[in-house]
Amino acid sequence: MNLAVFASGNGSNLQAIINSCRKGKIAADLKLVFSDRPAAYALTRARRAKVPSIVSLVPRDFPSREAYDQACVELLQREQIDLVVLAGYMRILSPLFIDAFRGRIMNIHPSLLPAFKGGHAIEDALAYGVRVTGVTVHFVDEQIDHGPIIAQAPVRILAQDTRETLAARIHRAEHRLYPQAVEMFVSGRLKICGRTVIPS
Ligand code: GAR
Repeated sequence: MNLAVFASGNGSNLQAIINSCRKGKIAADLKLVFSDRPAAYALTRARRAKVPSIVSLVPRDFPSREAYDQACVELLQREQIDLVVLAGYMRILSPLFIDAFRGRIMNIHPSLLPAFKGGHAIEDALAYGVRVTGVTVHFVDEQIDHGPIIAQAPVRILAQDTRETLAARIHRAEHRLYPQAVEMFVSGRLKICGRTVIPS
């Protein structure tokens, strides 16, 4: 099975997936790392790991979101990608992209969905004053942070937490959970039934 990871930033989740592939904990080939930001540190991680295909396309070089996503879909088809793993990829995918890879796109989000959707989940959880937040891995559908949930892990919020200390614990939880979820997909153990993902 061939994996593609899409990342816009630091790529620590990409690194966790690289490490799991290397150790044989994920029995798949990481064939492609893609970014919408040429300066993303994730691309440096991919180069260091000698990922065969490393591509960055700049959105402003395309006339529309659909044109950009069409180029992504063609790239994924050319590379014969089976699963697209979004790891801090900060662009919203168009229906065209989602349709082409329905049930084969995963995302990780730094909250216990459906709480704290959107781009500031960690800050929003702190501001709201919840005692427990966490991490969610889900399949991607047309709505933001919405698709069927694959796995979740709780992270307790401590009285002395700052954005940085909480983010660090959330990242650690992500680095454990995401490779496990990817491996479950790779080994054919995830079945989608409506909104529910049934692991076997
Ligand atoms: C992760 O915390 C991930 O959950 C979040 O971006 C971070 C990327 O970190 N994604 C979202 O907020 C998506 N809505 P990384 O680049 O170090 O993997």
